[in-house]
Amino acid sequence: MKKIILDVDTGIDDSLAIAYAVHSPELDILGVTTCFGNVSVEEATRNTLVVLEQLDSGAPVIPGAGKPLFRGPTKGSTVEVHGEDGLGGAFKTEAARQAEREHAARFMSEQVRKYPHQVTIITVGPLTNLALAIMQDPGIVGLVHNVIAMAGAVTVPGNVTPHAEANIFADPEAAEYVFRSGIPMTLVGLDVTMQTLLPLTEVQGWHGRGTPLGGFLADMTEFYIGAYQQMYPGIEGCALHDPLAVGVAIDPSFVKTVPMHVQVDVEGILSYARTVGDLRSKPNAGPNMNVCIGVEAERFRSHFLSRVLGDEKQ
Ligand code: BDR
Ligand code: CA
Repeated sequence: MKKIILDVDTGIDDSLAIAYAVHSPELDILGVTTCFGNVSVEEATRNTLVVLEQLDSGAPVIPGAGKPLFRGPTKGSTVEVHGEDGLGGAFKTEAARQAEREHAARFMSEQVRKYPHQVTIITVGPLTNLALAIMQDPGIVGLVHNVIAMAGAVTVPGNVTPHAEANIFADPEAAEYVFRSGIPMTLVGLDVTMQTLLPLTEVQGWHGRGTPLGGFLADMTEFYIGAYQQMYPGIEGCALHDPLAVGVAIDPSFVKTVPMHVQVDVEGILSYARTVGDLRSKPNAGPNMNVCIGVEAERFRSHFLSRVLGDEKQ
């Protein structure tokens, strides 16, 4: 089993990613760390606990950053996509258990040191917690197995501005700090996630399973698909951004990657928060990550659908 820490800003597609991970026997979830992003860190923590309860999972939940590294606190800016509660209105009651008291950044470094070269950190929110972990304990850079980050848009348009993707836009300095740190990284950006569409008809079928989990995930995902239809007229569903990062941890052959040097524009006006990849045949600097540039979307989607509701466990 692959040891993972899942760093989330839960969020609807984060919830789908959590369900996919919990139901995947290849993954040993050491903990789920939370960050501001789609919602506040308090809401992300609450949502994560609620989702894990629906999944019957006791994975530890460890709260992290409530604001970007250097900028002021941000109020969740993605209400149209994830709803006021971050779960598209599917949130009903608080979970019975509470989050851990430790900080996410400390948890990351503790686990990486406990299991040297074995831990994969999957980030599907802003990179703030990981940046803090590296700042506090730079030695983890050489001890982590890999970072798989759903973030950025290297070869395609952004989704917040013409160039910026939401997880980078939320804290560009944190992303740039992580990118420069030398930590091994696979970047799962909009380049590939926008090709992984989940159609409404599949989600509607989840209601028919007659399970509370099916109804819960269907309710929120229908909201998410509605938002996608507003944002991208004519689109056939919603993008499985965060689940694809989990998918890459389970089976890296879902994607094609190229080594690349990528930086974040932390100062630009038109290209603020853009992930700028040096795509030239002779780049000035060596690669600092592997960037996903292709995805076997149909094979990944089938795999995700076979797992997300826990069918294989039933
Ligand atoms: C990313 O932004 C968030 O809204 C989603 O949860 C995902 O992590 C996609 O750009
Ligand atoms: Ca997310």
